This record gives sequence, C-alpha cells and structure tokens, in this order.
Amino acid sequence: DEDPRIHAIKTQIRVVPNFPKPGIMFQDITTLLLDPKAFKDTIDLFVERYKGKNISVVAGIEARGFIFGPPIALAIGAKFVPLRKPRKLPGEVIFEEYTLEYGKDRLEMHVGAVEPGERALVVDDLIATGGTLCAAMNLLERVGAEVVECACVIELPDLQGRQRLNGKPLYVLVEYH
Ligand code: PRP
Repeated sequence: DEDPRIHAIKTQIRVVPNFPKPGIMFQDITTLLLDPKAFKDTIDLFVERYKGKNISVVAGIEARGFIFGPPIALAIGAKFVPLRKPRKLPGEVIFEEYTLEYGKDRLEMHVGAVEPGERALVVDDLIATGGTLCAAMNLLERVGAEVVECACVIELPDLQGRQRLNGKPLYVLVEYH
C-alpha cells in the first residue's frame, strides 16, 4: 500500500500545461520545495530506502537532481557527484550523448570523482523518455561503478522510459499519466 506521505507530495507538484512548449504538461517541483514537510518527506522516503545499502556515491543530474541528490547523500553518508550539462565542469571529463525530441544533449562527469567498484545511486526529479538516466548510468558504468538503482520523484509511465534502463531498477514516488 502507498505510504501516506506520498499523497501530500503529489499534491504539492504543480502541473503547468504547455510549458516550455505546446503540448507539454510540465511537472513543476518548485512548489513541492515550498512545503518543508512535503520536501522533507520526499528526502526521507529515499533515505529510508537507501540507508544501510552500502551506497558510496549519489550521482545527481543537472539541474533538479542537484536539489534532491545532496540531502540524500548527506543522510546516507555517501559522496555527491554532479552530472552536468556540457562545458560546466572545469576538470577532465567523460561524456555521454543522448537524444532529445529535437537534437542531442550530453552529460559530463569529472574523471576521478568515482572509483571502480563504487556502489552508485542516480537521482533526478523526473524520468520521461529515460534518455537522461540512461546516459547517467553509462557514465558511472564506464568508470567501473555499479549502479544500484535510479531514483526519481516523478515518472511519466506513458513514455516508457523504464524500458530504456536495460533492466536496471527504477524507484519513483509519484506517477503522472
Ligand atoms: C528534465 C528532467 C530530467 C529529464 C528527463 O530535464 O529534469 O533531467 O528532463 O527526460 P528524459 O527521461 O526524457 O531524458 P531537462 O532536460 O528539461 O533539463 P533541465 O534539468 O536543465 O531543465
């Protein structure tokens, strides 16, 4: 059965029609952040799931994975590694390209941030087509880390992003159809 905290979390996510373009129902988590109880419950639900699982790295995806990832990392005693959009990281990077609706984007990770054999959790606010999470997992696996799971606040199941994760487990709090 659903955790009673999840209903309030879902209520605090604002859906903005036709943003950033016509036809998109934008899932706005900034309204969730305005409710300290719901924001804390969101972090707590992830922490309860991942504490004691020997996870040494939380990798957060720019931009909104930078909001949810660090408090989870601190609470479970893991390091935080930002996976960034192009040309933001100053050190040597590896990158993975992924396809968007129009064109391509890429995620970059600092070389040396993650060691072979580390157990990693990937965090983002939302999975749509799954391309972003897939690129994130590839970065971690290329440096020899084991991706334990991907965690998102919201899933858009109709876009079937889960099927692009090559069987890797995905945990979400809220589904939006
Ligand atoms: C959104 C969201 C995820 C990604 C999911 O970010 O925060 O990172 O899309 O989409 P996918 O599953 O189809 O790959 P966006 O690309 O809008 O970038 P932003 O965080 O810089 O706004």
